[in-house]
Amino acid sequence: LASVEFDLTKVEEGQQVTIKWRGKPLFIRNRTGAEIAKAIGDDGASMPDPQKDEDRHKPGKAQWLVLVGTCTHLGCVPTFGGGDYGGWFCPCHGSHYDVSGRIRKGPAPKNLAVPDYTFLSDTKVKVG
Ligand code: FES
Repeated sequence: LASVEFDLTKVEEGQQVTIKWRGKPLFIRNRTGAEIAKAIGDDGASMPDPQKDEDRHKPGKAQWLVLVGTCTHLGCVPTFGGGDYGGWFCPCHGSHYDVSGRIRKGPAPKNLAVPDYTFLSDTKVKVG
């Protein structure tokens, strides 16, 4: 199946880029230090699909989140910067994801999926 390579220098800190991968949107987010701290700070919170922030990114690459950008409820595309947890919000039925892409509130059952990907270099990833 198709894989895609992406140049991370295109994403400034605090920004994200959405690319297409296997017909789905993929979010590539360059997290700020504050976002990372917030995500780690919430590791112990009660959540529907518990996962530590460190299990949501590659080791030593906490600033980079690569996520499948479809809501795990019914597949709408969540937007960043909305919702109650500073992450993504899905307007279709009101699912709130945090800055780690973990579902925190609303009907979605699972965290935003992390696809298979690898770092080819410090500035390049290959997804799929
Ligand atoms: Fe996102 Fe229903 S599709 S909340």
